[in-house]
This record gives sequence, structure tokens and C-alpha cells, in this order.
Amino acid sequence: MKLTILSIIISISGSVLAQDFTLPELRFSYDAYEQGIDAQTMEIHHSKHHRGYVRKLNNAVAASKLEGKSLVDLLMYASYRSTAVRNNAGGHYNHTLFWEILTPSTSTTAPEAMKNQLERAINKTFGSLENLRKELSAAAAKRFGSGWAWLVVTPNKELVVSSSPNQDNPIMDVSDVRGIPILGIDVWEHAYYLRYQNKRGDYLSAIWSLLDWGVVSQKYAVALSDPLLLRIERENWPQMNAFHKVLAQTFHAAEKGDFKPVRELSGGLYAKSILLQDSDIPKSLLKPEVVSALTRLEKKCGSLQKLVSKNAKNKNIMKSLSSVHDIFHEVQGLCHD
Ligand SMILES: [Fe+2]
Repeated sequence: MKLTILSIIISISGSVLAQDFTLPELRFSYDAYEQGIDAQTMEIHHSKHHRGYVRKLNNAVAASKLEGKSLVDLLMYASYRSTAVRNNAGGHYNHTLFWEILTPSTSTTAPEAMKNQLERAINKTFGSLENLRKELSAAAAKRFGSGWAWLVVTPNKELVVSSSPNQDNPIMDVSDVRGIPILGIDVWEHAYYLRYQNKRGDYLSAIWSLLDWGVVSQKYAVALSDPLLLRIERENWPQMNAFHKVLAQTFHAAEKGDFKPVRELSGGLYAKSILLQDSDIPKSLLKPEVVSALTRLEKKCGSLQKLVSKNAKNKNIMKSLSSVHDIFHEVQGLCHD
């Protein structure tokens, strides 16, 4: 009997403690956006499509044993996640942003609602708000099939317009343009088809009249000082990721006594170390210690390659590979100081 009660308590606690993602409320009623989007579209979009992304995300997170990960963590490493996690984490994040930046209130859709800081940045980058509208509309119109158009704050704190397919977004490591989106336009047909059918351009004109420049301004200010920008910058170093991949393949096998990978891949590792040394170091990591460590890393990889080409003994190769591994971790340490 005691066991049964204990099981029930554990079961209830488990369900209460699980940090499930939830569907956010809309800021206004479904019919409040009629000037641009009809009530039925809003209702289906929010209560069916977005609810579906949330439900499937929770299932996919549980299936991948990723409970407890933040939404940003799920997005940041999208290339390592299952397709279901990638699509539904994106679906949840993207739609949450979309609902936040839409308003039927003319007091905040007016350009005057924009804060000076964002206005200056838009004028500096695009020349005018009208030019930004044209660029965003073009990105949205050109997106083949389903996807999103974005206004993004990049790690170097610049504004960029981009677009992405499906439910991908700029936080994801699969995105060409990385950064924090402060404005997103949904160009899936489910966002507009009932009223606009195949006329995506008409929908884009209508959506422009619903954008809440007060909220977008707040998002811009928050994004500028968000530590996420630094994380994206540091992890968006393709040559470092490529080097790490080969090092992991060779070092961990050698540790277990398998020297075949290092004997086969030492040339590739050396080539990757040269590319890494020649690469553009992320701005926040550009310091003499990192530059010097990358030079030493390349030299050590060259020595390792020589040993392998001379068919040296395993113990000598292990010693050399360990030096490479130590310097790599020194660089990693410098990158996370
Ligand atoms: Fe959507």
C-alpha cells in the first residue's frame, strides 16, 4: 500500500516538475487583427498550428531525453538535434516572437512609436524605414516554399535582413546569418492563405501595418546587451569546429589504444590547424594569447604529421597528439574566460 502511494506521489511530482513548453496567450483577441489578418486565420494559426508545435516539441524533447534544456539551447545546437526537435523548437520560438510583435493598435504601429536607438540604427543600415520594408518584403517574397523573413541583430551588433526555410531561425547553428531576431514575418501559407490565397505580396503589405514598433524597439535594446550574442559569436567559428571534430576522432581513439584514426587523419588534422590559424578569429576572442596558441597548435600538428609519416612508435605519437590536445584545450580555455 505504502509503495502504491509512493508511486503516485513520484508520478505526480514527475509531471509537475517537468518543464514543459506552453502555448503563450495572444496579446489581443483573434478578431482584433482584422485590418491585416482575418480572425479565422489568427485562430487556426495560434490555437492549431502553434499549439501543435508546442505539443510536438514536448514529445520530441522527451524522446531525445533533453528535458530541462532551454529553448535557446535547443535552437543553438539545432544541427545536433533530431528533426522533430529542430522543427518544433523553431516553430515555438518563431511564433512566440511573431505574436509579440503584432498589434492592431495604431499608436504603436506608427513609426513614431519607434525608439530613437532603433530608428538611428535602421537609418544608418538601410537609409530609411521604407528601405527596410522593401528589403524585408523582398526577403519574404523570395523565400521559396515555407519559411520566415527576419530583422536580426548580429554578434557585431549590426542589423541585417535575412530569411530562413521551414521553422529555422538565426539563433540556430544551421543558419547562414546568425544573431538574435527582433522581428520575424511568417511566410508559411497557413499565415495568410484564407484571405490572400496565392498573393503573398498583399499579405506582406498588410502585415507591415500590424508591426508594433514599440515592441521591436524594446527587443532591439535587449538584444544589444544579451549575452546570447557573445555565445553565438564564439561558437560560430567554423574552422575551430572543423579542427575539433578531427581532433576528437583521433585523440579519443588513441587514448583507447586505437592509433588507426590518427595515422590516417594526421594530415587532415594538420591541414585543419593551418586553416584555423588563417581563419578570422571572432572579434571578442581576438587577443594575443589566442593568436599565439593557434600558432603553437599548427606547429605541433606539423610535428605530429612528421612522426606519422615516419611511422613512429605509438607511444611517441601519443605524446605528440597529447601536446596538440593540451594546446587545443588551452585555446578553448582562453575562449571561455
Ligand atoms: Fe506560422
